[in-house]
Amino acid sequence: MSNNWIEVGTINDIPAMGSRVIESEEGAIALFRNSEDKVFALRNKCPHKGGPLSDGLVAGRQVTCPLHSWTLELESGEAVAPDKGCARVFPVKVENQQVFLDFSSSIQE
Ligand code: FES
Repeated sequence: MSNNWIEVGTINDIPAMGSRVIESEEGAIALFRNSEDKVFALRNKCPHKGGPLSDGLVAGRQVTCPLHSWTLELESGEAVAPDKGCARVFPVKVENQQVFLDFSSSIQE
């Protein structure tokens, strides 16, 4: 499947160890940047009760939801056990500091 990449700004638009929210037809998407400057894109809605993941704490390759502290894997959107659930993940890539997102497909529904 080919990706439909859309440029959504530069990596420097995303605070390190933080996030930036993009509105899309698919709903709000949170772009996260971790301490290694790796970028991840997740639907900005916790699979538990819809908490804003963009307000969560980024550590390594995980984010902790600000509402009830579920921890999700940024790469897969999966909740870390014992919690169960998954946030939708969008393909994202960084090239020459530019961040590209594919809104049309998701890694997981
Ligand atoms: S809404 Fe995220 S942990 Fe409850």
